[in-house]
Formats: sequence, structure tokens, C-alpha cells
Amino acid sequence: MSSINNLSSYDDLLVSGTQLPSFSQGKLRVTGDKSISHRVLLVGAATPGITQIHHLNHGSAVKVLIPTLQALGVNIEQKDAVTNVYPPSNGLYSRKGLRLNLGASSAAARLLLGLLSGLGINAIVDGDTSLQRQPMEWVIEPLRELGVDIRELGTPGHLPVEIAGGQVYDGKVHLSVGSAQARSAILLAAFGSGRNVEIKHLTLSRDHTIRLLRYIGINIQNTPEGVRICGGRPRPLPEYIVPSDPSAAAYLVAAHVFQRRKDELVLENVGVNPTRIGFFNLLKECGIPIRYENVYEAFGEPVGNIIIGEVPNKLKPFQIKDDYSFHSMIDEIPLAAAIATLCSGQSAIYGAAELLFKETNRLISTRDMLSAFGSHVEIVGDSLLIFGDIPLKHGIIPSFRDHRIAMTAVALACSFPGRSRILEGSCYKTSFPDFTELMRCFGFDVYTQNHQ
Ligand code: S3P
Repeated sequence: MSSINNLSSYDDLLVSGTQLPSFSQGKLRVTGDKSISHRVLLVGAATPGITQIHHLNHGSAVKVLIPTLQALGVNIEQKDAVTNVYPPSNGLYSRKGLRLNLGASSAAARLLLGLLSGLGINAIVDGDTSLQRQPMEWVIEPLRELGVDIRELGTPGHLPVEIAGGQVYDGKVHLSVGSAQARSAILLAAFGSGRNVEIKHLTLSRDHTIRLLRYIGINIQNTPEGVRICGGRPRPLPEYIVPSDPSAAAYLVAAHVFQRRKDELVLENVGVNPTRIGFFNLLKECGIPIRYENVYEAFGEPVGNIIIGEVPNKLKPFQIKDDYSFHSMIDEIPLAAAIATLCSGQSAIYGAAELLFKETNRLISTRDMLSAFGSHVEIVGDSLLIFGDIPLKHGIIPSFRDHRIAMTAVALACSFPGRSRILEGSCYKTSFPDFTELMRCFGFDVYTQNHQ
């Protein structure tokens, strides 16, 4: 299959499989949560007073918001692990024709569209050619229904689009997808405009926007079919400590499982929000002992240590059938499929149509990456079937420039003899810039091969 992200150039990764006698470091702290980082930057930019953010994710998908917000008049200073956000005193700049390019980040683009619509900011939101292929009607249609004048400047339903006028009125919208980015865009539009909006959604996908807005005093109620947000003045957000990203932690946990380790692995201060930990629940179903310790609430989010114990020799196959479970591990589906290759029997991931619209068509990229290791994976409609217990081997593995596919391939390649080459694997920097460094801290042999 062809890659859809065609702007950046990426290096390959060389991975040599090793059976580690013991981890050189049993405790690790991974990068800040990507989704929470997007939300805190945007809400900080639209809330009076400085917001000091600790442990912001520095992947390219988040970094792209920094020049974007600066173009809107926000002053952003970055010192070590602290990012200070100073919104302009008279609100974000609104200038006809101002073009904001969000690169390849769909979350940054969709959330920004919602917030700017709510604040009545006139701007053009665009992305690179990969992002221009992603569906934006999930956000454009409900924003129009609420009264925003959004004009498509290219292919209908896609970027670039112009927020040309209109405004958000009180109203009710019905989302056609489970996407958390879509719901968050509408919540941010209601937040920016101070309007009352009822959102009917298909399932409760990651709820960080709800938690953050509630944390600054916005009234959001659960309804039988979704949520209702009521306009109101936010409290300032002087400080936010971003928890570690459970989706990043998942690669280290998976490497532990692929190695069938007998010792414990501890990942510290990870976000353990129930809408994000589906992958860890799935591992428990397969028979792997996982527990959470020292769980506390910080800024409205549950945070704690994740401890993974001895991996049994036989793993039970699994089925992912319901929307809630699927969305609670939507970014970990390639990893879940990789785990299924170790299970005794056939596993299945049903109803995964939203994976067609990720950085790649992830049904195809997951199948093709795993097949390159020698596994047997089939796509049936919008489902993936994985046939376990087939011995895998090293090889030349495509990543399709999709960070989730590349990191899954690295974690897997570490566990069997021989050297694998993960083509254009350095795309991991989209979401987890210190991924290879942490893998090396673990004792794994993962290196970048620079292209001349
Ligand atoms: C995200 C939501 C998810 C996820 C993406 C980030 C977010 O996508 O795949 O990496 O920050 O809201 P959906 O919008 O499909 O839920």
C-alpha cells in the first residue's frame, strides 16, 4: 500500500533481536500525553492569564500547534520541560486570509477548527497533503449546524477550509462517528463561544476535553445519549502537569510481553483514564498480570503507575467487539494485532472502520507490517482476523511512515533473533520523540540509519 504522508523524509531503523537477561532499568517514565498536550495548549491559549505546562509532548503532531498559536498572537516560551503560554490580552488575532498549516496532525486541525469557530476567529485551516485526505466533514457539518460559516476551499469535506463568519448558537448536534477529535471540536466551539450545546455521540471515546473543561469550571453534564455543555466563564489555568501517555507506554509494555519477561516492568505517572486503557485491559484478558498503583487525580485526570508482571507462556486469544473497547485502544490496534500473533488461536478486531482514516489505512498497514514478519492476518470487511502461534522472523518491514506501525514493528522485532530494518521508522517522532532512546535504556538494540 502507498504511504499517505508524503512531505517529510524519514530514516530507517535497524533493530536486532535480543533476549535480555534483565532490564537495565525496571522503572520508566514515557513522554507526555499527546492528546492532553493538544488540549492544554489550545485551552491555555484561550483562557486569561499564563498557563505553565509541564511535560508537554514534543512530538511533531503537537509541536505544529506552537507556530500556529504564535500566528494567532499567543506568546509561547519553552524552557526545558516547561512550556509557558501567554494569550494575547485582547483575544486571539482574527485576520481574513490568515492560513494556518497543521502539517499532518488531524487532532490539531480538528480541535483548532472547533476552538476558532467558537471564538469567531477568521482564518484558513490547512494541512499537508496527507491531512488534506482525511475527512473533516465530521467537524465541518456539526459546526455549520450550530451557525458557523465554513467554506471548503478544496475538495468538499476536506482541508483547506475557511472559517468565514457566522457564529455558534445554542443547539444540538448528532455526531456520525465515535471520534474523540470530532466531539472535542464541538466542545471547544461551545467553550469558545460560551453557548449551550448538546452533543449526541455514538460512544464515549477519550474524554480529556470534557475533563479539562470541567477542571476550569465549565459545566458539562452527561446525558443519556452524550453530553451537554453549558456556556460559562472559565477559571484561569495557571499550571498543568501532563501525565505520561498510555499509548506511548503501550510499546514498552508490548516489548515486555513479546520478550515473555518474567520480571516486573513499572511505568510511572501514566494517564490511566478508563477511556484510554483498553489495551492494558486486553492484555489482562490474554492472561498477563497488570496492576495500577499509587493512582491519584491530577487536573481532573487519573494518573498512576502501571506494573506488568510475569508473562505466561500461553496467551489467550481475544475479540474486540464493542465500540467503547475499540475506542479505548484505537491507537493501540496495531499493537493488539501484534499481541494476537503470540496468542494460541484466532483473535479478531471487529467494527474497525474508523481505522481507515488514520495516518494510513491502518487495517491495511497493520496487516502488511505483520505479514512482513511472517504472520497471517486477514481483513474481512471492516474487521481484522489474526491467526496466532505462527513463528515470526526478522525482515525488511514497511512502516508506511505511520508512527504507530513503526513503533509496533520495533517492539516486535526486538523479540526474535536476527536484524530487522524498519523502513522509514523514524516517523515515531510524530508522537514519541524519545522512543528509541527509551528502548535503548531498556537494553534493546535499536538504531537509526541516516539516509545520505
Ligand atoms: C485523538 C483521538 C483519536 C486518536 C488520535 C488522537 C485525540 O482519534 O486516534 O491519535 O486527541 O482526540 P479519534 O478522533 O478517531 O478518536
